[in-house]
Amino acid sequence: MNDFSSLFTTQLIDWQRRHGRHDLPWQNDDDPYTIWLSEIMLQQTQVSTVRDYYLRFIARFPTVESLAAAHEDEVLALWAGLGYYRRARHLHEAARQIVTVFGGQFPRTRHELETLKGVGRSTAAAIAAFAFRQPETILDGNVRRVLCRVFALDGDERDRAFTAALWAKAESLLPENRDDVPAYIQGLMDLGATVCTRRPNCAACPQRLICRAVQENRVAELPRKKTAVTVREWDLSWLVILSAEQEIFLEKRAAHGIWGGMWCVPCYEDAAAQAAFCREHDLPPPDVGEPFTHRLTHRLLTITPYYFRLPETQFLRSAGEAKRFAASHLGSANNARFFPLSQAAQQALPKPLSRLLQTLAGSL
Ligand code: ADE
Repeated sequence: MNDFSSLFTTQLIDWQRRHGRHDLPWQNDDDPYTIWLSEIMLQQTQVSTVRDYYLRFIARFPTVESLAAAHEDEVLALWAGLGYYRRARHLHEAARQIVTVFGGQFPRTRHELETLKGVGRSTAAAIAAFAFRQPETILDGNVRRVLCRVFALDGDERDRAFTAALWAKAESLLPENRDDVPAYIQGLMDLGATVCTRRPNCAACPQRLICRAVQENRVAELPRKKTAVTVREWDLSWLVILSAEQEIFLEKRAAHGIWGGMWCVPCYEDAAAQAAFCREHDLPPPDVGEPFTHRLTHRLLTITPYYFRLPETQFLRSAGEAKRFAASHLGSANNARFFPLSQAAQQALPKPLSRLLQTLAGSL
């Protein structure tokens, strides 16, 4: 059997230099900080969405030191809308690791990079390759697709042996010259994102003459489709507690689990716990709002909002009192407090809560 490995590599590098992407904002230099940040943002989010977030983030936090020194709330607020917020919390933690463990210098090897919070093998490899020209390969969904097609590799992506074989294949294809590594890695990303897509444009592909999926007429079949994710349904109650001054009560959620570290209204799955909270804090009877749905990757949420409008005379005459109320009745002032609606909207909030607040602000 013919081995087209070296052709694959040279054709990819040549194609990237001529036809690949060269104007992405994080491609300007080999600063590991900006490369790391962009790779984290690009883990589950498209280039077109990441672009503006990346530029805003870099403007606010131009160095790893500035990010390490930031308050987590500000980092999360800049991330709001990008989704998968655990990435932002890990990013912040990793910035602190770089400052405290590595003296502010990014480690240069993939293995050391993998010790950073939120940095897996593929992300570590991308940083090592782009910033330090290390011969390391990535393997994300796009690269899998390219390799499975060009080399007719057929297997279940959840099968560890198959994944190990893909990593080995990807490593065996790396160019010998370290100066070619960045173009090669970028070429893999660009080919998967722009040509060898779900519905590929084989006529424009630099690998069309060696692609075994083309030769065997298996382009539509490879890579083998994974089975659909199972989506669980989940009913939640949201307690929307509004002061007479149109402030909303928010709690900072625990770091782990859904919407970890974000600010949210009290959220209950369990009716008894919800009733206990209302009793304990002597909340007036609520208005029950229309339930609405929100889809997460593995969950379909149905959220029912309960509106509690606190009468002025009963509780609050000033913002200061509101804070004291929050502190003494609803939890510690750091983790739970009233926010004016406009200020609440600037915190890192779950997406469905942002939408609810917009509706609320419009109706007041
Ligand atoms: N996806 C992941 N990393 C990327 C990068 N550096 N450029 C474009 N798309 C990417």
